[in-house]
Amino acid sequence: MTGNEIRKIFLEFFKSKGHRFVPSDSLVPKDPTLLFTSAGMVQFKPMFLATEKLEYSTAVSCQKCFRTPDLERVGHTIRHHTFFEMLGNFSFGDYFKKEAIEYAWEFVVDVLKLPKDDLWISIYLDDNEAYEIWKKTIGVPENRIIRLGKEENFWGPVSTEGGPCGPCSEIYIDFGPKYGCGKASCKPGCECNRFEEFWNLVFQQYNQDEKGILNPLPKGGIDTGLGLERLTAILQGVQSNFETDLIKPIINEISLITGVQYGKNKDFDVHLRIIADHIRAITFLISDGVLPSNDGRGYVLRRILRRAFRFGKLMGLDKPFLYTLVGTVTNIMKESYPELTERRENISKITLYEEERFKETLNTGEELLNQLIEKGEKKISGKDAFKLYDTYGFPLELTKEIAQERNITVDENEFKTELEKQQHQARTAWKGSGESTNDIYHTLLNKYKTTEFLGYETLESDSTILAILKNNDNIEILLDKTPFYGESGGQVGDTGTLTADGINLDVINTYKPIPELIIHKVKINKGNITEEKKLHCIVNKEYRNAIARHHTATHLLQWALREVLGTHITQSGSLVSSESLRFDFTHFSAIKPNELKRIEELANEKILENLCVTTKEMSIKEARKEKVIALFGEKYGEKVRMVEIDKISKELCGGTHIKATGELGSFKIIGEESVAAGVRRITAVTGMPAYKMVLKTEELIETIALKLKTSSTDIQQKIEQLLQRNKSQEKEIENLKTRLAGEGENLMSKLTSVEGINILPVRLDGMDINSLRKIGDSLKTKIKSGIIILGSANENKANLVVMVTSDISAKLQADKIIKEFVFMLGGSGGGKPELAQAGCKDILKLDVALNSATEIIKKILH
Ligand code: SER
Repeated sequence: MTGNEIRKIFLEFFKSKGHRFVPSDSLVPKDPTLLFTSAGMVQFKPMFLATEKLEYSTAVSCQKCFRTPDLERVGHTIRHHTFFEMLGNFSFGDYFKKEAIEYAWEFVVDVLKLPKDDLWISIYLDDNEAYEIWKKTIGVPENRIIRLGKEENFWGPVSTEGGPCGPCSEIYIDFGPKYGCGKASCKPGCECNRFEEFWNLVFQQYNQDEKGILNPLPKGGIDTGLGLERLTAILQGVQSNFETDLIKPIINEISLITGVQYGKNKDFDVHLRIIADHIRAITFLISDGVLPSNDGRGYVLRRILRRAFRFGKLMGLDKPFLYTLVGTVTNIMKESYPELTERRENISKITLYEEERFKETLNTGEELLNQLIEKGEKKISGKDAFKLYDTYGFPLELTKEIAQERNITVDENEFKTELEKQQHQARTAWKGSGESTNDIYHTLLNKYKTTEFLGYETLESDSTILAILKNNDNIEILLDKTPFYGESGGQVGDTGTLTADGINLDVINTYKPIPELIIHKVKINKGNITEEKKLHCIVNKEYRNAIARHHTATHLLQWALREVLGTHITQSGSLVSSESLRFDFTHFSAIKPNELKRIEELANEKILENLCVTTKEMSIKEARKEKVIALFGEKYGEKVRMVEIDKISKELCGGTHIKATGELGSFKIIGEESVAAGVRRITAVTGMPAYKMVLKTEELIETIALKLKTSSTDIQQKIEQLLQRNKSQEKEIENLKTRLAGEGENLMSKLTSVEGINILPVRLDGMDINSLRKIGDSLKTKIKSGIIILGSANENKANLVVMVTSDISAKLQADKIIKEFVFMLGGSGGGKPELAQAGCKDILKLDVALNSATEIIKKILH
């Protein structure tokens, strides 16, 4: 049986038992308290806690999961993974322990035909209810039911902030004594390879609060997790998960690239397993919209990608190779995850880009490490090792290895401290990122349910205040229903007014602290508000329309980008406001000016065609058939909303739009830049802001024209003239310079001497001190030894520079000489023995002063 078949059989089995099939959620969960989806139950968390009636009460899924706590063990054992698939059946207050156990047994024994006698059961210490079911109802012999503690047999909660949890019961398979440790105590739970746990049945009985207190759930739930890779290994009769048809083809491919055969060398086997595990995770993480970066999810991705690259290097590869494995992963998994096929090329490119980057830093890091070692340090400090790790993406293991070769150690403890410090920062940053963890809003949701949004159809309503939240000057209102759009999906929130007799409020922003609630931030202009008060709501229409225009323009832009650059363009973020739109998307080079022009042109063409923009609600299944663009990694509900621009674009989108593209007026791109590796950003305007853009440009031209003393129509001619003049002036300057150099020769004719000392007094009018110094420098090289005195009448001042060559500056100092001139001409000046300068007042006496230079020197000499 193939892994793909096993997945299908499981889903079919529970579907036949009336379970609703729910597709795998993204690896990026909606739950803001979690970094990754780490179990099948994550997407169902709220359903275990729900008090209201649910749309369905039992479910089955195959969930892609990603976990990092076992990262160091991956590859070293036969059963640990970062990425894996979890099959699971769920009950939300429907059936409980008995049925869950019966279903599991039926599936394992009757469907999969696993040998009954090799199956062992573990239960939580005092869970006698489960014990009795296994023993009496199922008939498992007492000696094969063991009781394990909290560590093994109490599951959850999945988040540190609490949530559903409960005792669990696990099914183990006994591979026989030849795989065991041989100890008399060997039984399920032992670390050796004899007993393998493959199915965990969790009895979700409690809701653990933030303080760790277990509060019983009104109705018990079932959450089971059956590792697809483990089950496949068992059914395919192979020694490890890595040898199943879900993973082995990847190992084979790596063997082809490296020339390293699996099963020949223990260390290399570990490397091969690590790479195979990591490339699956890399492929799925990128497919769900995670991009390598230095924080949050992106950092985790970067870490495993670099780790995998490094293990390739340890097997002799020194060039990117992981990107070539994306295709192998896709081929194995595409049946269940068809989105991989269309994203494959993009995933591959992102992987390659990251590999190339790391290849660079790996070498730079190596050099740096060598420098540290050459400095003669006996121990590389944890701080240095961490810097290498953090800044250069240099894995600690590699640092250790190279250090070891030179008999140097690494302060691992200090490294760990640094790492923990950083991880702590990453975690707290993450926790702080969502106000949605805030309990108040969850309490409000429990009490009042999801806010009804009316704003697709109308901009006015009569609504009732359900709750008022006050925090200093910050006042927030929850209404039963609202036409105000709460900021989400990149679109900013609405503004407007709320009124009643004697009451007048401004809505200054609208947002969604949790997806189900729409909250209005208000300013009270008049009156007092109380709960249950009825208010008339009016959304600021102009503001909303301006936003809607930019939202439709974003869809138009995405279409045009795909037309011009290709279908690999995938949205990775957006911001839609009344003033502009920002659209981030995956692309690997700057967009060329002609491409950018074409994109803009296409968008404008479609505006002129005045295409209809329509919205339609449908099931996600129908939407898939329609080939709509869904957001990377975004999880959609059962019903989705499709926004269609006639004939050209279909996107799943919850935002608000205009009715026809003609309403945009025009579309103008105002910026294109890179925001991260492989991600570009376009900023653009439409509607009024686009018109204002034109006005602004016009104004700028007017201002320039005014400055150039011409009219805007003649501005080009004027600039041509100026450029022409500039050019001829530059030429003139060049000529003057040459002339000046030539005059240098003439100036030399003024050279005299006193007692064998060269003296060169020169007058050159119109020069500032700097120019005089430059000329002085060139004269100095000519006279080689002596004194140069330069005077210049310039802007009502007589500038003076005196230079003395170093060979005689002990005898005659420039600062001394200049004092004599200052004395004659008035003003001030000074300097050092070899160079002095002065600004003097009496221009009329400049000639006389320069003519008496020889006299002055003589006087100083004696
Ligand atoms: N939540 C349990 C687990 O992750 C069972 O699905 O193991």
